[in-house]
Parts: sequence; structure tokens; C-alpha cells
Amino acid sequence: MITIKNKASIRKMEQAGSLLVEMFEEVTPLIKAGLTTLELDQAIEALIKKKGLESRTKGYMGYAHASCISVNDEVVHGVPSGRVLKDGDLIKVDVCASWRGYCADMARSFYVGTMPEDVARFVENAQRALNKGIEQAVPGNRLGDISAAIQKEIEADGYGIIRDFAGHGIGKQMHEAPEILNVGQAGEGPVLRAGMAFAIEPMTTMGAHTVYITDDGWTVKTADKSLATHVEDTVVITENGPKILTRTTAADAASDAL
Ligand code: MF3
Ligand code: CO
Repeated sequence: MITIKNKASIRKMEQAGSLLVEMFEEVTPLIKAGLTTLELDQAIEALIKKKGLESRTKGYMGYAHASCISVNDEVVHGVPSGRVLKDGDLIKVDVCASWRGYCADMARSFYVGTMPEDVARFVENAQRALNKGIEQAVPGNRLGDISAAIQKEIEADGYGIIRDFAGHGIGKQMHEAPEILNVGQAGEGPVLRAGMAFAIEPMTTMGAHTVYITDDGWTVKTADKSLATHVEDTVVITENGPKILTRTTAADAASDAL
């Protein structure tokens, strides 16, 4: 069942979203060659606490960190470690946190150093696909309209679309119904209504879409070692269309500049 959130719940999710955006803005300047992904995670965890947010990944099914940091051919759920960031790394930072019990989930891709043209096109495509999916999050549409819009944008540029992981409903829980695939048929699936809240998150590769989970039990990597990207926003469907809870300013300026 897809829950319909009332105004009070949505307000808390909005607050979670704007604090999460602030957190990303403050952490963005730290992303530089020489930093380890664990140091980055620790900075994220400290900022989450400072803002009165609560991490929803730390302790989730035994996961020990406040963020997932996935580097290059790692797609999602990268576990922060002593890995040192270096020029030429494409990293995906994914954070889910709640404010007074209500979650927001957000991911952005960042490049260490000067981004080459082909990587910029790749990341911009995922960002555009996310935007096209979000545009479909209006009352009366169907869930498949979101998935199909994402798929169309990614396939137009010939990138691989991860099938084994998906976006999700969100609210009191990080993961709620429905599962939001990044491939699908327009006109199919449940009808969308005001008050539904979704975390929409295209995951793409420069190669094939086959992925596997590494020995750490979390990190998802491309089987062909191709570069992967991931962006995610939390969106509430309103009578007037989608309201994105995890946008604005520096974090997006950094992504947009890619
Ligand atoms: N934030 C991730 C998502 O988009 C969830 C990470 S699950 C974790 O669904 F356990 F790895 F943290
Ligand atoms: Co998510």
C-alpha cells in the first residue's frame, strides 16, 4: 500500500529535505583528492547531528555508516573506508536522514578534479533522467509514467540502466512501497495521488547494466567495470505537481556545473 502523507508529515519531510540539502552544501567543498571516503562519511555524520537530523542508514540491517560513498565502477551502497580519493574519481554520495521521525533521501555525483567531457555528458544524462521522472509525479498519472520517462532519457543517450536496484516510497521509513524502477511502461502501475512521497534515483552505467555485490555484503559494482553514476531526490506529489524536497543551491550548482 502506498501511504498518503498528511500535511504535518509532509512538513517534517520538507524540513528533513532542506537540512539534508544544507548538509550536502557544507560537505561539497571537502570533496578533494587526499580525503578518504571514511573521513568524508565522518564529516557527513557530524553535520547530520549538528543539524538535528538522524541518520537512517547507520544501524539499518547492520550498516555502520551515515552515508554510502560509491567510487567509479561502484554504483550504490559503497561502504566508507580508508580508500583515498584521487583526481579522476567519480563519487556518488547517498544520505538518508530523518527529522522528527520523517525521512529524506538524497544522492549526488561529484568528480574529483576537472571533469572530462564524456563524464559530464554521462552525469548530466542521469540528472536529466531524474528531472524527467520527477515531472511525471503528478496526481492522476501512473507509476509507470515516472519509470518510462527515466528510461527514455537514459536510453536516448545509450547508457546502461541498473535493473537490480530501484527508487522507493519514503516517509516514516526510508524504504516504503512502491518500488520505483528506472525502466517501465507509461500508463501502467498504481495511480499517483497527492500526498505520496517518493525517492527517485536513476542509476546508470557507461557499459552494461549487470551488477554484483562485493564481499563486504553492500557495495554494488558494475560487472564490466564500467563507470557508474547515481542521483536521487525526495519528491512529494501535490495537487500542483511534484515538490522536490532535496534541491536548491550549492549542492546542485556543483552537480549542474559538471
Ligand atoms: N539511501 C539509500 C537508498 O537510496 C539506502 C542505502 S541502504 C544502506 O535507498 F543500508 F546501504 F544504507
Ligand atoms: Co533511496
